[in-house]
Amino acid sequence: MRRRSFLNATAAGLASTLALGRPGAAQFIPKASERKWAVLFGTWYGTARDAAVWISEGMGGIAAVFDVRQDPDLSPFDHLVVGTAIQGGKGPKALEAYLGRNMDRIKGKVRGLYAVCGNLERPAGPQNVKDLIDDYLARLTGAGPVAKRVFGGRVTKALWSEEDFKTVRDLYAQLQMPPLKDYDNLRRPDCLAFGGEVLAKAA
Ligand SMILES: Cc1cc2nc3c(=O)[nH]c(=O)nc-3n(C[C@H](O)[C@H](O)[C@H](O)COP(=O)(O)O)c2cc1C
Repeated sequence: MRRRSFLNATAAGLASTLALGRPGAAQFIPKASERKWAVLFGTWYGTARDAAVWISEGMGGIAAVFDVRQDPDLSPFDHLVVGTAIQGGKGPKALEAYLGRNMDRIKGKVRGLYAVCGNLERPAGPQNVKDLIDDYLARLTGAGPVAKRVFGGRVTKALWSEEDFKTVRDLYAQLQMPPLKDYDNLRRPDCLAFGGEVLAKAA
């Protein structure tokens, strides 16, 4: 094969792989383990995805990580962590629909629940845990008393739709807060620690 056509073929292959792979393009490859763990997340802009990967790292890298839009078959997994990003007090529709469809397969396997939310840049507290985990995600998953955590979220204007940015910017203005700017309140050490806690609690 001539060099140019080889390069074209490679580029075309890569492009189709990336296209087919979305949104699971950045698949986290777990370490081999006797116990089959998975982290399932719902996200708009990736904060909940990064939390999922870091939670798996905190578990020693043994949990496979799935975006709910991949519509994963979770039946090979015995232990699950389910997490979600929050908009308007809820997770993405795709997560709610997936959990509704798969409730029977998920129930009894959930060992940890988490949410990520902006919370107007304030640290998350017990009220957020009640609203987002106890009264929301725990019900959607049918989970009992498991490890649970609400993490701080992010604004990344470059990723957000104009409409989403305007919605939150207008809310800030209405509440007489300083103008909305990028921030990142998700802390990797907190996610690693939560992964360790989930594992310890499930032992
Ligand atoms: C349109 C919109 C609505 C939001 N609503 C809420 C909300 O109700 N409560 C909250 O604490 N954070 C809210 N946030 C902030 C997100 O929870 C935060 O940006 C989080 O990092 C999003 O996670 P993701 O990047 O995984 O999608 C909202 C953000 C957007 C864009």
